Amino acid sequence: MKVTVFGSGYVGLVTGICLAEAGNDVVCIDIDQDKIDNLNKAIVPIYEPGLDEMLKANMDAGRVKFTTNIAEAVNHGTFQFIAVGTPPDEDGAADLQYVLAVAKSIAEHMNEYRIIVDKSTVPVGTADKVKQEILSVLQQRGVETEFDVVSNPEFLKEGAAIEDFMKPDRIVIGTDNPRTAELLKVLYAPFNRSHDRVITMDVRSAELTKYAANAMLATKISFMNELSNLAERLGADIEQVRNGIGSDSRIGYSFIYPGCGYGGSCFPKDVKALERTARQVGYQAELLNAVENVNNRQKHVLVNKIKKHYKDDLQGKTFALWGLAFKPKTDDMREAPSRVVIEALIEAGAQVRAYDPEAMDEAARVYGNKAGLRLASSTEEALNGADALIVVTEWKNFWSPDFDFIKKTLNDAVIFDGRNLYDPQLLKSKGIRYYAIGRGL
Ligand code: UDX
Repeated sequence: MKVTVFGSGYVGLVTGICLAEAGNDVVCIDIDQDKIDNLNKAIVPIYEPGLDEMLKANMDAGRVKFTTNIAEAVNHGTFQFIAVGTPPDEDGAADLQYVLAVAKSIAEHMNEYRIIVDKSTVPVGTADKVKQEILSVLQQRGVETEFDVVSNPEFLKEGAAIEDFMKPDRIVIGTDNPRTAELLKVLYAPFNRSHDRVITMDVRSAELTKYAANAMLATKISFMNELSNLAERLGADIEQVRNGIGSDSRIGYSFIYPGCGYGGSCFPKDVKALERTARQVGYQAELLNAVENVNNRQKHVLVNKIKKHYKDDLQGKTFALWGLAFKPKTDDMREAPSRVVIEALIEAGAQVRAYDPEAMDEAARVYGNKAGLRLASSTEEALNGADALIVVTEWKNFWSPDFDFIKKTLNDAVIFDGRNLYDPQLLKSKGIRYYAIGRGL
């Protein structure tokens, strides 16, 4: 089938390339000429395992093309996916200007039936706005043609996005038109083989489903982070509590890991946006508000522990920091807890030597030559000359470090661990002072 994808960012690229992989004829369009030029040379602007190879294979097979030409893009696909950004505005509500600009562009060039698919995470009611925008432009142009606007939210995890697209837990299709739902089911058939994963519903419920999923996951994390702070003060170990509650099948083991706060491009933005949406319809979303506040506070937990350990005097101290990305297997530093830690330490007069397996280029882009921050090229190099070690992201190669080397290299033999990677007893036996999250033993 013929598919057009507006927006060659994270979601748009994964969607476009995976749909091409399934044999569709895909055109990806973006307003950023440099990005499109690079993609035409098979250079992927983001780090996502497997995406490079899949892009090359599908370009070679002629199934995916990249362009900035709107007329060409609109003429191409029966399906017109909208996968552009919805960044928060000053108030934290999702800014729809890019989504509506795409809707306008589609309407300006559309001459026959098109299915417009909202893939971007958009507030409830956006499909209606997209529909209105298209109708009004078509009217101005005097063009009469049918179209449908569908909500089809993505549930892709960075670092596992291809797997999530290829073997989704569910495919949510929000539309009031059964015929359109059938067409989308055919498009998604290759990803829907072992059992039926398609859930069709009305448009508004589909739009809300995306926010509900992310807000629920963020709530689980903030809940555990709140309990970890309590456990610490009560002399309990949150890791044992986690095991104890995870064994209840109603609760489950996933997404109950305490840490130094959630980050990324979705949770912080979506929780905030849903809370603002609630306010707009006259409802105070107390729980969502708390989820956000707990998380903002949690991002400071490591710094508070460090300050306490050093009796509020960080002047001239140097910290090795492992992990810049907001989670493993990505180079994304958006809303990453590492940023809060780095900025607070430097603000307090300390120096930071940071290392991440994938996010070094991103860190250089974000921070340039920030005074007080040095980017190291390995875990060992970060440790060299440092007083203490801080672990912020749970990359696999941080899990079993050479503790003897760490003890020998650090001036103070102390580790501040924001992800509970290590065994407190082992570190004690090695003579390393260990601060973790919620381990009040
Ligand atoms: C998330 C959703 O999982 C995905 O379905 C949605 O489409 C987009 O947002 P992503 O942002 O890629 O995906 O990351 P995810 O793996 O969900 O992790 C989010 C954050 O939560 C990370 O900072 C992670 O470290 C943190 N986290 C996760 C915890 O602190 N504890 C946990 O138990 C799980």
